[in-house]
Amino acid sequence: MVTKNISAHASSTQDVPEVAQIPRHIAIIMDGNGRWATKRFLPRVAGHSQGLDTVRKIVKECGDVGVEYLTLFAFSSENWRRPEEEVGFLMKLFLTALEKEVSRLDRNNVRLRLIGDMSRFDPLIQERVAQAESLTAKNTGLNLTIAANYGGRWDMLQAFSACLKANPHLSPEEVSEDLLTPHLSMSFAPEPDLFIRTGGEQRISNFLLWQLAYTELYFTDLLWPDFDPAALQASFDWYRQRERRFGRTSAQVMASEKEK
Ligand code: IPE
Ligand code: IPE
Ligand code: MG
Repeated sequence: MVTKNISAHASSTQDVPEVAQIPRHIAIIMDGNGRWATKRFLPRVAGHSQGLDTVRKIVKECGDVGVEYLTLFAFSSENWRRPEEEVGFLMKLFLTALEKEVSRLDRNNVRLRLIGDMSRFDPLIQERVAQAESLTAKNTGLNLTIAANYGGRWDMLQAFSACLKANPHLSPEEVSEDLLTPHLSMSFAPEPDLFIRTGGEQRISNFLLWQLAYTELYFTDLLWPDFDPAALQASFDWYRQRERRFGRTSAQVMASEKEK
């Protein structure tokens, strides 16, 4: 017997999702902190501190304009490969941010979630993460998700594994999106409408591999510490110009708009 546990959110490959003028869900790769600092003859880590400032501004702006979900890539499963001092600094910054920023997020009605393999973090960080998530669990404003020690492949593998545990007698023919997606880290959210990567690189770097199937991909040369609400608005303007076809023809898209 298969336990059917359909995710609360539509899949872009199963159904054509509703499209709004403002993206409901934005996923950002915050890249370019190191280069921002190097350009100023500062140590790379100064760019990470400055990047946290941008996070504050963008979280506020997203809340103000009615974005429902904001997902930020803060530390990838591959970022452990960086020099020990930089990783150490990022861990300290993560802990300080958890200790200093969460009460403000809570006051602003933000619900904070962390995705990624938390088991590799220091126990104190894990404890602060759990506290922050439970403190803000009741909030109904912006859903802010921070991806830390996150990798898209890790996410898919842990989901397959959890799916098999939940359905031990699953036969190969029964495998389906409906059975798998409730186990993905982002199962609480609709798929991202808009993906933004700052810092000029045009790649996904193992971020949300499953969920980006039909996301609009926006790349800007701005370095993350230089990204600001005006730059976010520019990405929204670009987003509004996209025709999201989800496999259909342009004529079909226009006909379905008219029906509304
Ligand atoms: C992104 O900025 C932040 C993290 C990956 C933690 P980078 O540190 O990758 O900055 P660049 O790409 O080296 O400029
Ligand atoms: C992606 O940036 C990860 C984060 C922003 C957290 P990277 O700087 O690590 O990506 P690559 O190595 O250039 O692909
Ligand atoms: Mg980088």
